[in-house]
Amino acid sequence: CPFHAEKTPSFNVNPEKAIFHCFGCGEGGDVFAFIMKRDGLDFRAAVESLAERAGVALSKAPPTPAQLEAAGIRHALELACQYYQAALAAGAGAAAREYLKGRGIGQEAIATFRLGYAPAGWRSTLDALGRKGIRPDTLIRAGLAVGGKRRPYDYFRDRLMFPIADGRGRVVGFGARTLGSGEPKYLNSPESPHFSKGRTWYGLHLARDSIRRQGRAVVVEGYTDVVAAHQAGFTQVVASLGTALTRDQARSLHVLSPELVIAYDADAAGQAATWRGLEIFRNLGGTVKVGIMPEGEDPDDLIRKQGPEGFSSVLAGALHLVDYRYTMIKREQDLTSPEGKSRAVGALAPLLAAVTDAVAREAYVAKFSNDLRVPAEILAGAVVRSIEAAAYGHKRPEKAHTANRGRTLGDPGPAAISPAVLEAEKELIRLMLVDTGNITEIKAKLDEGKFVSPDCRAVVDRLYRWQVDEGPVDMARLMSFLGENSGATSLVAMMCVEDTTYPAETAKRVLADCVEVLKRRRLEELGKLLAAADMEGQKAQSGVIVEYQALLKELKGSRTG
Ligand code: UTP
Ligand code: MN
Repeated sequence: CPFHAEKTPSFNVNPEKAIFHCFGCGEGGDVFAFIMKRDGLDFRAAVESLAERAGVALSKAPPTPAQLEAAGIRHALELACQYYQAALAAGAGAAAREYLKGRGIGQEAIATFRLGYAPAGWRSTLDALGRKGIRPDTLIRAGLAVGGKRRPYDYFRDRLMFPIADGRGRVVGFGARTLGSGEPKYLNSPESPHFSKGRTWYGLHLARDSIRRQGRAVVVEGYTDVVAAHQAGFTQVVASLGTALTRDQARSLHVLSPELVIAYDADAAGQAATWRGLEIFRNLGGTVKVGIMPEGEDPDDLIRKQGPEGFSSVLAGALHLVDYRYTMIKREQDLTSPEGKSRAVGALAPLLAAVTDAVAREAYVAKFSNDLRVPAEILAGAVVRSIEAAAYGHKRPEKAHTANRGRTLGDPGPAAISPAVLEAEKELIRLMLVDTGNITEIKAKLDEGKFVSPDCRAVVDRLYRWQVDEGPVDMARLMSFLGENSGATSLVAMMCVEDTTYPAETAKRVLADCVEVLKRRRLEELGKLLAAADMEGQKAQSGVIVEYQALLKELKGSRTG
């Protein structure tokens, strides 16, 4: 599988349905999805690449005005990059060259990262690019010049230039460092439809192959950290552009590798925004680890002071997110006081509840309870309550929906459901996949909330919105819709492999039986709710009573009929 590091084969291609699926990492889709993911291309580029390989001529529609504008801006950015590179090598770049030398950044890194220098003055870039036929308004839209009604002037002046590229290595913007003590230290290209920090990683196009080969991406904070790390041989390093990690960023790393190591300085790594980004990566099924940097140092400082070995040992000693947070919780609470201990257990419970692999969860419970000198049963109990709150609470957290690696197929996660119910849910999905008529029929009988397994529910939710007049369900499309939910994608992929079909009569009976199994389960659940309310001397919600009575009546009828 090109999408994760593996030793046992788990990559499955179904030539008939023209789809692929990896049971190891959950990636799947059609040939376009494969090329998009493997080569980091957008849909259009993937189509072009495949057409070229297959010798198919694509008839191109004439470009739209928006496409023309985007192409013009890209061209301007590329020319600007070349201009800054040349300026660094020329006379005016002497101070910038000295600066780089002083920081230990060598010729090779300068060339690889296409570092440059934006000359001082107000019109250097405007004039130089103007001579190449680039109009000022294009430069303004490219974020290279500023100007309203008055004469436009250069946006970047007397700065060291770090070009920022997209996944294909095309320049989309710049980070520009002051050579002295001017403010801001780094001036970045303004956000625009053509450049978004939240969709970009600094250095990704240079790190892609290395990340895929090593099965691990390393995220640092700064431009210079990336350059220094690559120069020292750590080519799997990229930088987020000073903002919180976004879903788009997490996804573009996750398609390359299942593991991400974050090497921010210790304080920065604690920022809530960063953690949210890491949760996103974890929810995609990835593993997040934290490399603990020496106090107050970034990777660039570390490599300069201790050489590559210093950074190697930080990466080698990276802690799992859970262990890292445990370390932080311990730091925050006074464990000598009973209240501190209690708060530590309270903070640990939701953290461990989110670990979907039961074996790993138990191991953590044993380890932390021992370390905290708290009986394991107490911590385990708190974790179970936290799991239940997540599974039965109305606001089900995202992680309960998203299947992680290590869970068995179709397993609802912590709150177990009976095998019969799970089988019925899967059977109904199989029926809907082979015949869209069944979607209409099942939808009329069961709302998607009646499905208990989160994976099944995710698939059903999508199938219920399938346009029946579109014809049979296209497995590859369904899988791409479910893309982010690896449990649900695996479920569908498994069904492609099984490929069971029934004679029409049998299908009808199976459908009715499965619907009944799910209704009975719901009835049982409602019964429990009523009993619980009764025991606490409260009146059950009227909705529950109405639903209970309706279901009871319906199921009685089906038994006699
Ligand atoms: P740092 O201040 O840690 O800078 O900002 P650095 O990369 O270590 O830079 P040197 O070593 O002093 O040259 C980390 C990152 O945050 C963003 C940049 O992406 C920077 O690399 N940043 C920082 C800005 O965008 N603007 C700023 O003014 C400062
Ligand atoms: Mn630095």
